Amino acid sequence: MSYHSGLIQQAAAVTIMADVTLQRPEGAAEDWSIPQQWERYSPAEHALWDHLFERQAGMLPERVVPEFMDGLKLLRMTRPGIPHFDELSERLMKATGWQVIAVPGLVPEHVFFEHLANRRFVAGRFIRSPEQRDYLQEPDVFHDVFGHVPLLANPVFADYMQAYGRGGLRAHGFGSLTSLARLYWYTVEFGLIRQGDALKLYGAGIVSSYGESVFALDDSSPNRLGFDLARVMRTHYRIDDFQQTYFVIDSFEDLLRQTIETDFAPLYARLRNEAELSSDAVLPGDRIYTRGTQAYARARAIK
Ligand code: PHE
Ligand code: CO
Repeated sequence: MSYHSGLIQQAAAVTIMADVTLQRPEGAAEDWSIPQQWERYSPAEHALWDHLFERQAGMLPERVVPEFMDGLKLLRMTRPGIPHFDELSERLMKATGWQVIAVPGLVPEHVFFEHLANRRFVAGRFIRSPEQRDYLQEPDVFHDVFGHVPLLANPVFADYMQAYGRGGLRAHGFGSLTSLARLYWYTVEFGLIRQGDALKLYGAGIVSSYGESVFALDDSSPNRLGFDLARVMRTHYRIDDFQQTYFVIDSFEDLLRQTIETDFAPLYARLRNEAELSSDAVLPGDRIYTRGTQAYARARAIK
C-alpha cells in the first residue's frame, strides 16, 4: 500500500514534499482510487501470486497469530489467483465493515488516513516481477493484500486500523506524522505478539516476506522488546533491510486500548523534546524478550 512507500519516503525526508507535489494520475478518482482491472492480470501473474502464497501459507501456520489464518479462510483467500478486490470487500464488509480499494503506487498521506478512517484499505494492484520475488521495496498487491487484509477481518484489529487513520488526520495537524509513522511501522508492518510463552508474527511486512518471517522469530540478531507506545514513537526504523528491533504487544485488545485511551497531543509535545533512538537501542526500562546480538546487521553493514 502506498502509505508503506510513504513511510519509506518519510525516512528519506521527502514526504512533506511528496504531499505537495504528488499529482493525481489521470483516470484516478477524486479519492485516488482506480479500478483494479482484475481481468488484466496474466496467467503468469496469477501463478506468481500462487507461488508466493504457497510459500508463505506453508510456513506461517506455526508462526503467525491464529487470527491471521482465520482471516485467510474467512475471506477465501486460500483459492488460487490474485484476489478480486470486490469479492474481498464483500466478505470483509460482512465481517468488519471494511473494504479494499485499488490505488496507484503512491497517495498523499491525508488521502491514506481518510480512507482508513472510513474503513477502506488502499492496495496497490500491480504484482512484483519474478526477479523481485524475494525482495522489493515498493509494496505490491501481494504485500498489501496477503500481508494486510486477513487481519482486517478481525474486529479488534479492524478497529485499530480505523483509529490509526483518525489519529493520522489529527497528527497531520500537529506536525507529528513522523512519530505516528513509527507506530504504524512497529505494529501494522513489523509487529510481534505474545501468545502464552510464544511470540507470533502479525506485522504485514513480516508475513509477506519469506526471509523476515523466519528472521523475526528465530534469528539471534534482532532485539525483541515489550511494546511501549512513547518508546516506539521515538525509535528509528530500517527501510532497507530486516528490522533490528521488533516490539511485542500483549494482545490486539491491549494495543487498541492503549492507543485509543492515550491522548497523543501531549505525547507529541513531549516527544519533541526527547532524543530519538537508534533502531538497535536497548534502554534500561525496556522489557526484554531477546537482547539481539545485531550480528546480522553488522555483517550487512560491512559489505
Ligand atoms: N489516540 C490517538 C490520538 O490521540 C489516536 C490513535 C489511535 C492513533 C490509534 C493511533 C492509533 O491521536
Ligand atoms: Co504495508
